Amino acid sequence: MWILQIARLGHPVLRHPAAPVTADELASPEIQKLIDGMILTMRECAGVGLAANQIHVSKQIAVIESKKNPRYPDAPDIPLTVLINPRLTSLSVKKEVSWEGCLSIPDLRGAVPRAESLVCEGLDRQGRPLLIEAKGFKARVIQHECDHLAGKVYLDRMEDFSTLTHLAEFGRFWNK
Ligand code: NI
Repeated sequence: MWILQIARLGHPVLRHPAAPVTADELASPEIQKLIDGMILTMRECAGVGLAANQIHVSKQIAVIESKKNPRYPDAPDIPLTVLINPRLTSLSVKKEVSWEGCLSIPDLRGAVPRAESLVCEGLDRQGRPLLIEAKGFKARVIQHECDHLAGKVYLDRMEDFSTLTHLAEFGRFWNK
């Protein structure tokens, strides 16, 4: 297994909605190997989530996990979850503003409003139905990854660009 190369902002693959994964595709060794590669790459890059179009594959696959992450030291743990063809329903009208970064937009952080809680429906990597209720940080990560699969990045969701900050200045001025 190897680390996959991450597409950065400006690569068109990040701006195209990803295609749903069929049952046959999901069962194929190629897609299963790809999922393993996405998990490895997310961990190696200290991400808390990764969408398939971020590694140049326009399919509705995302992985999320958070365990003592050096890029997000204050983040609560999220168990490893593979989301196939995810669909979101917001549970809260109220939005919560918090910091986000993205492996495709290196070294930046911005304050992004997101629904506080949601329900995510889709499939797991074995093709079994998946239903996740999430709030707070986990709900934020799921929304961020589902946005990727729709061809969006967190910058599109920002309402105050004066919060966009380089990581070096984030530690100095914002993360107190
Ligand atoms: Ni991202």
